[in-house]
Amino acid sequence: PESSTGCSFEDCQDTADWLLSQTAVRPLVGIVCGSGLGGLADVLKDQEAFNYKDIPNFPQMHGHAGRLVFGTFKDRTCVCMQGRFHLYEGYPVQKITMPMRLFKLLGVETVILTNAAGGLNQDYEVGDIMIIKDHLNIPGFAGNNPLVGPNDERFGVRFPCMSDAYDRELQQLALDVGSELGYSDFLREGVYCVLGGPSFETIAECRMLNKLGADAVGMSTAHEVIVARHCGMRVFALSLITNKVVSDYNSEKKANHEEVLQTGKQRAEQMERLVSTIITRIGHN
Ligand code: 6GU
Repeated sequence: PESSTGCSFEDCQDTADWLLSQTAVRPLVGIVCGSGLGGLADVLKDQEAFNYKDIPNFPQMHGHAGRLVFGTFKDRTCVCMQGRFHLYEGYPVQKITMPMRLFKLLGVETVILTNAAGGLNQDYEVGDIMIIKDHLNIPGFAGNNPLVGPNDERFGVRFPCMSDAYDRELQQLALDVGSELGYSDFLREGVYCVLGGPSFETIAECRMLNKLGADAVGMSTAHEVIVARHCGMRVFALSLITNKVVSDYNSEKKANHEEVLQTGKQRAEQMERLVSTIITRIGHN
């Protein structure tokens, strides 16, 4: 089944070889930009961009365009996904995460992911940036884990550990950089919960997730983190809290995508500065 979905080791290797023949950039950092946070790719220096539709075996986006952008921050070589794939669009979870395996075969050592998320933690404000320290993979509970299927040992082991999924050194680095940039007032650390979407949560669901220990809820990232960890890359991830979830029956508020995009615009520059500064400070072997 894997070969027909374009995410086998050989498929990923072909894609990596093709890209490496098209660009001289040898990326050490792979970046995935969340909704409204794609501006990060635009500030890369010496850019070389490839439309998803021109990349062999790459999943194709329905409706909107996506680009893989190679470039550098200072002396750090990067590859950045501008546009990500979501479960709610109907892609199999293995397909959504194929770019992580491609990153690995391009030589990437560290993956940085961003997303827009709803705040479940009552102390969180709209505009907060949450350093993800752990996740709850709810689709995974029901068999929708991206590693379901035959395991290819060339990527990683059958039963990978996830208790160290989010690199602690990078979390500390983010706190240090955030403090230097004057962001401490809106920088948090918490647990990200992924759901399939596309409908937002009911009030009962929000209350349940909050009780389960989730601080923020969204529709991405955790799948990619699992696949990135499986093949041995370091992972760092940030959520921008774009709205507070509704968890009170007396509230008149309603979750909506416009609010998500609006908040993204307001904090995008600070997110970009935080991520680009972290990248310039990551230690690589
Ligand atoms: Cl409130 N829920 C989910 N599932 N994803 C979101 C969100 C909420 N806000 C931004 N992304």
